[in-house]
Order: sequence, then structure tokens, then C-alpha cells
Amino acid sequence: MEKTQISFKNNVEFKVKNCYAPLVERLNEYKKNPAIGFHIPGHTRGSAILPQFKNVIGMDALLCDTTDEFDNLGTLHPASGAIKEAMDVASVCYNSKRTFFITSGSTISNLALAFGVISPEDEIIVARNSHRSVLTGTILTGSKPYWLMPKKLEDWAIYGSIQTSDLTEKLKNNRNVKFVWVTNPTYEGVVSNIREIAEICHFYKVPLIVDEAHGSLWNFHEDLPTSALKLGADAVVHSLHKTGGALTQASMLHLGKNSLLDENKIEHALKLLHTTSPSILLLASLDAARASLSSDEGRQLIQNAIDNAKFFREQASNIAGVSVLGEGSRVNFDVTKIFLKVRGLTGKRLESVLELDFNIEVESASDEGVLILSNIGNTRAEFEYLLLAIKQIARNNYPDLSHLENVKFMPLTEPNTVMTPREAYFSPKERVKKEDAIGRVSAEVVALCPPGISVLLPGEIISEDHIPYLSEYTEIDVIRE
Ligand SMILES: Cc1ncc(COP(=O)(O)O)c(C=O)c1O
Repeated sequence: MEKTQISFKNNVEFKVKNCYAPLVERLNEYKKNPAIGFHIPGHTRGSAILPQFKNVIGMDALLCDTTDEFDNLGTLHPASGAIKEAMDVASVCYNSKRTFFITSGSTISNLALAFGVISPEDEIIVARNSHRSVLTGTILTGSKPYWLMPKKLEDWAIYGSIQTSDLTEKLKNNRNVKFVWVTNPTYEGVVSNIREIAEICHFYKVPLIVDEAHGSLWNFHEDLPTSALKLGADAVVHSLHKTGGALTQASMLHLGKNSLLDENKIEHALKLLHTTSPSILLLASLDAARASLSSDEGRQLIQNAIDNAKFFREQASNIAGVSVLGEGSRVNFDVTKIFLKVRGLTGKRLESVLELDFNIEVESASDEGVLILSNIGNTRAEFEYLLLAIKQIARNNYPDLSHLENVKFMPLTEPNTVMTPREAYFSPKERVKKEDAIGRVSAEVVALCPPGISVLLPGEIISEDHIPYLSEYTEIDVIRE
């Protein structure tokens, strides 16, 4: 048995280096020789679909749009065939105990972790800058979260890294804590000391889950921060669709090599939460992204992204009035995420000038700045054009728009919790005008997207500080008194 595993591993390692993508190969065979199908999807390989749509997305995509079960492609739950092989190859590549493919985004990876590992009323420690799916997990499970407040980078109005002293303190004072859940990197690329965080957690015999949704390139290049999978995390989430080159919604969930978590429980939770019609296109795109990133060509693409980012960061931070997060400061960061601000402009205004005057679309904008991703597909010429645009904007004194003055986009409020998220979620509610909500207990998840970090959760007192974050609300659900 051991021998078979060793030869499988060696064989797979050889194949991984050579762009082996079993599901992509199988899909290609299916596309060339499809059976006559009497099954879903009803568009029957594009024969019955709006012609304009067919023209827009192309016949090849429609030929491949199918789900698991059929045409010898394998199944996702339980894992079998080419789908299983693709996940096993990914597991070898990430050196994980187990890797699961997810077609409904890291949202489902996070929910499956919550549902799979947390029992009702468990006490857990959660970083407050977590994505709302982690927080929804607390509602689903009925757990009691203790919030870990990351350092605030006030000049940038964003959260920074996790303070390890704070984590130690919380674990020391709450001996019943069952899990610690952190997000790394932050949306803007700030990196925490995961090695130390994992050591602290394991000292207290508490498993660590890391939402590394925005770090899916890290496994593949040593000039990027080290993936939590290599630093002792028990579970790690990767949104391969965000920066890894997979199709939108495709995500991976990994268990660390020595994970303390129960793999069967997580698999079971996934089965309950995941769609029963997973898209083969999305699954194959995970196989393809992993194969590409592990190849020499993929490495070159990551190298380009790093080089372009370094070039842009250096040039942009030399423009008068322009600041780039991480340049000239001691913040640890992922170079490919460039958070930038221009003096005199809110991030939202900068975003709209870039879009309207230069036809440039950035990842997101906040009160302070815009987030630019140096992707594996961006070219140096695109970065040169972006630099030109930023230079012109910084020079030309674009006026800001006053209606944005009282709008806040990044939640930096301290929660004042009086009920667990689940208790509050299921309590009787009423809808009140947001001005009348001050002092009341929220019954809603308020999390502006992106980045989907919660401003308010059910069970938290609404204060005056929350009002600027509720610019899109006229009314809000509160617990009935
Ligand atoms: C840190 C983090 N985790 C999880 C998610 C959810 O990912 P997805 O959009 O793939 O469902 C996001 C989405 O932005 C995120 O920022």
C-alpha cells in the first residue's frame, strides 16, 4: 500500500512539473466525442440556446458546459474519476493532506469549514476583518465569536496585521476556545505572521484556519509571502478565481499536512452545502490553473506580475502627492496588491477619474485609495499606461466631489456584542429608519462588497459611528424590544 502511494506521488510530481491536468484532458476527449445526451443541461451542448448568447460566449464553452456524473468525467461527491484525480494532483502540488475543489466560491469553502468543524455554542476566535462568509458561519453554527481586532492602519483607513499578543491573551483567557480563524493577506495585501500565529494556536492545542483567498499565487513563487499551508495552518482557503487564473467562482479548500481537523466532517459539510450540479467548466478551470501555475510558463507569469508590481510601486511612489501602501513603511505585504492614494482625492473619486478619463478599471476603491492588482495576465505596457494616468491625475488637481465626504467604505468600528449572531438572527425583528437605529441591536449583516468585511453583525449595538457606513441604507432591521 505504502509502495503504491510513493509511486503515485513520484509519478504525480513528475506530471505536475509537466503541466499534467487530468480533468482538462478528459474534458477535451468528451468535447471531441460526445455521447448523444438525454440529460441536463437542457441546452444540449448549445443546440437550444439564444443564438446571440452563443455568439457572445462561443460554441466551445457551450460544448463543455456540463456537470459531473455524465460522460465519464467523474463525480465531485463522492470524489471519483478525473475529478478525483485532479484534486489528488492538486493535493500533491500544495503538499496538503486533502484538497477539495469548490465551484461556489470561497464563500462555500468558509461555510463548509464552519459547518464541518464548529459545533453549536462553541467558542471561537475570529479576526474581525474576515469575509462575511466566515461571519455567516457563526450564524449557521450558533458559535460564540471572540473578535480579534487587527491593527488599524489609520492613515489608510484599513485593517493591518493580526497582533499576536492579542491572540495569546484571548487564548489564555478563554480556555474553551475551539478554533482560531484569521484572514491573510488582507484584501489590500497586508500580511500577518502566520508562523507565529500557528505556533501560538498549537501551543493551546487549538486548530488554525486561514482564509488565504487572496493568496492563491503564494504556493508557486518564493518571492511572494509563504502560504499558510507551509506554516502549519490546519485548513487554508484559496480563491483560485481571484488571482490564480481559474474561472470566476472556482475555489480550493485544503487541509494542512498535519491538520487537527476531521477531514470526513469537512467532506460531509461540503456535500450538504455545495451545489449538486457542479460546473465541469469551473472544476476543469481549477485543474488548469493549478497545472499552469506549477509549470515553468506559469512561474514566468507570476514573475512578470511581481516585476510589473515592483516597477509600478517604485515609479508611482516617486510621484509628488502619490503614496503606495508598503513603500517606505514597515508593513509586510504582498507586492502584487497595490493600494495607492493621491493627495486631495478620495479613493472613490480616483477610481471614477481612472475609469471615465482613462478607461482603466481598478479592483476596488475606499475612502482613502484604490486597490490595483498586478495580475499574472497584465503587461508592462498596461502598467506604463496606468503610471501615466496616475501622473496626470496627481498633476492636474482633479476636484473631489463633496457628496462623497460623509461616505465611509471601510469598516473600522469596534463591535459591541450583546447576543450571539445566531440568537440575534433568529430573534423577532422590526425595520426602523437608520437614524432611529442608534442604540438598538442590529439584526442584519452589514458588509459592503468588496471587500465584504462586516460593519455590523446581528447581535451588535448600532452606534453613531456606524451611520457613515450605512450610506446605502435608509432603514435597517433591528431586534424588536
Ligand atoms: C478574504 C475573503 N474570503 C472569502 C471570500 C469569498 O470568496 P468568493 O467570492 O470566492 O466566494 C472573499 C471575497 O471577496 C474574501 O475577500
